Amino acid sequence: MRVLVGGGTGFVGVALTQLLRSRGHEVTHVSRHPGPDRISWDELSRSGLPPCDAAVNLAGENVLNPLRRWDDAFRRVVVTSRVETTKTLAKAIAEAERPLRAWVLVTGVGYYRPSPTAEYTEESPGGDFDFFSRLVSAWEAAAKIPGDGTRQAVVRSGVVLGKGGGAISQMLWPFRLGLGGPVGSGLQPFPWIHVRDVAGVVCHALETEGVHGVLNGVSPASSGTSNADFARELASALGRPALLPLPGWAVRGVFGSERAVMLLEGQRVAPKRTLESGYCFVYPDLPSALQDIVS
Ligand SMILES: NC(=O)c1ccc[n+]([C@@H]2O[C@H](COP(=O)([O-])OP(=O)(O)OC[C@H]3O[C@@H](n4cnc5c(N)ncnc54)[C@H](OP(=O)(O)O)[C@@H]3O)[C@@H](O)[C@H]2O)c1
Repeated sequence: MRVLVGGGTGFVGVALTQLLRSRGHEVTHVSRHPGPDRISWDELSRSGLPPCDAAVNLAGENVLNPLRRWDDAFRRVVVTSRVETTKTLAKAIAEAERPLRAWVLVTGVGYYRPSPTAEYTEESPGGDFDFFSRLVSAWEAAAKIPGDGTRQAVVRSGVVLGKGGGAISQMLWPFRLGLGGPVGSGLQPFPWIHVRDVAGVVCHALETEGVHGVLNGVSPASSGTSNADFARELASALGRPALLPLPGWAVRGVFGSERAVMLLEGQRVAPKRTLESGYCFVYPDLPSALQDIVS
């Protein structure tokens, strides 16, 4: 298949591109920056889809960039980098001469209301209680194309763990120094997935006839993982203690209260439809995922 990937140069995109190419697919990126095997968002808007059989969108400004103040201007960039790129791709797909085989969007588990007790599947309600849940609703709505000529799927991803990027890249150095620990109370659920698996779920959705709708992109063990469990397992994988909690006030100070919710609260999410659709996780449990990352 020839697969067009928006935002495919990022952390998840690199893993997805590698996986797709290893499975014999051709990959073209839609990017803000020129380069080989890339087209720009402007080209896509002006000229429509290049020859391709499937599309994915991973584009989005990094929400947890600690160097960006959580103000209206940054909120707008966070929203438009996701919703407008998704609209551009969806419009090009809807206007293509022949329907694509599949169109996959990656969003987030921020769709579900944070809770220490509730457990969510893909059928659970959400999407309308705070900034992030409304963002996911608008993002997923932007992806909808009329008709059923193209299979459409959405992967709601948890925190993506992997080598060389994502949330863990900022945590590794304090943990390596023995200065790591849980965030806030540590009791909040920690919905996670290994980067190889989020790429795997997207690839599965692209390749597998009959897979459509929402798939939760979290590991099967994720619904039983708290932030403190994660801190303990990461410290143990590094052979270090994890005694120093990062207080909630410090997190709120750096990220702002609205954004700090992503770190201080969490959702218990199960990948029910993902497993039922036949996806086999490469890293179903935290110790194996972390061993791979710290090795
Ligand atoms: N990583 C996670 O833990 C996680 C969790 C849940 C959901 N997700 C979602 O999964 C997707 C991929 O995540 P990721 O970690 O791979 O993201 P990433 O590395 O931060 O960025 C992905 C790509 O998005 C494009 N991009 C960044 N800012 C943009 C902007 N302002 N306008 C247009 N494009 C922009 C960039 O591509 P170019 O530079 O080539 O334009 C970048 O390489 C994102 O939408 C993210 O929200 C990620």
